[in-house]
Amino acid sequence: MSLLEDLDSLQQQGLRELEAITATPELPVWYRGYLGRKGRLTELLRGLGALGAEERPAAGKRANEVKQALEAAFAAHQDRIKEAELQASLAGDRVDITLPGRPVGPGHLHLSTRTLRRVREIFAELGFRVYEAPEVETDENNFQLLNIPAYHPARDMWDTFWINDGVVLRTHTSPGQIRCMRESHPHPIRVILPGKCYRYEQVTPRSEHQFYQVEGLAVGHDIRLTDLIGTLNAFVTKMYGEGRKMRIRGSYFPFTEPSVEIDMDCILCHGEGCRVCKHTGWLEIAGAGMVHPVVLRNGGYDPAEWSGFAFGMGVERPAMLQHGIEDIRYFYGNDLRFLRQF
Ligand code: FA5
Repeated sequence: MSLLEDLDSLQQQGLRELEAITATPELPVWYRGYLGRKGRLTELLRGLGALGAEERPAAGKRANEVKQALEAAFAAHQDRIKEAELQASLAGDRVDITLPGRPVGPGHLHLSTRTLRRVREIFAELGFRVYEAPEVETDENNFQLLNIPAYHPARDMWDTFWINDGVVLRTHTSPGQIRCMRESHPHPIRVILPGKCYRYEQVTPRSEHQFYQVEGLAVGHDIRLTDLIGTLNAFVTKMYGEGRKMRIRGSYFPFTEPSVEIDMDCILCHGEGCRVCKHTGWLEIAGAGMVHPVVLRNGGYDPAEWSGFAFGMGVERPAMLQHGIEDIRYFYGNDLRFLRQF
């Protein structure tokens, strides 16, 4: 077979094989095989030298044509494959922008926040301003200045999260009384102190290790237990409706003297007796009393001239009673099925 015929058949075979290629990685293999330095065309061209002088120019020209034809076909086929692969990848990765998004519903206030806001509103109407005190407290404010020295057995009621020696997560909002008195002295005081409290507590359906309290404090020249009772009576009526009954029981807190516990008639059974009030007909709403003379003095007020009342009420427990919630752990369990109900 002559060199010219070899060149023809090389061109045809090359074009056929190129046509059959469908993926980019196969292209360089073909290129090396036909047009590379050790490819089949180069090999054929080596035979050029053996040709006679009259045959050589035609063979050389033909070889060049074959080379150009194969190069051009290669470039065109490479473009076609790239385009096809691009289209395939676009189709595969397509984002359907017509798919509707998942709607994010509007949020709403947590039940604790709503309850707290209502309590703040009511006391604002009664002339109490809000005093904010820190959640991380000194042992001194949380205990000692409230008449609970280190050895006092009352500390057992407030098993505590200690930050370090002498610094605690406050166990009640009462240490704010000291801060407020020291800041307000020598003026009269009428404040509430709402906020989070922490106790190293066995968690049960009624007890969390963190919960809200609202403390109340009034200090003046002629403040009596009846002022405390009247204030809480007004609060209970505004919070829970007209016609509520209240009762006062003697109690003990180191920072009040006398100390009382305030109950109201059960929201659900109105005193008849039910599961919620444990068949007593009464619900506890606050610990309270007249500010102890030692505490007044620690706050900078002379107990011979000044007197005051204080109370501390929970937030979650009354809300549980009001809404028939059986377990306090739902409040901070972050379960939207619970939270969305309020
Ligand atoms: C006190 O904390 C006193 N500081 C209240 C006080 C203030 C008395 C001022 C006199 C003068 P007590 O430990 O009873 O008291 O808590 C008050 C309220 O906080 C309780 O009635 C309850 O509603 C709430 N509470 C207490 N412990 C928890 C708890 N672990 N989980 C949820 N609520 C709690």
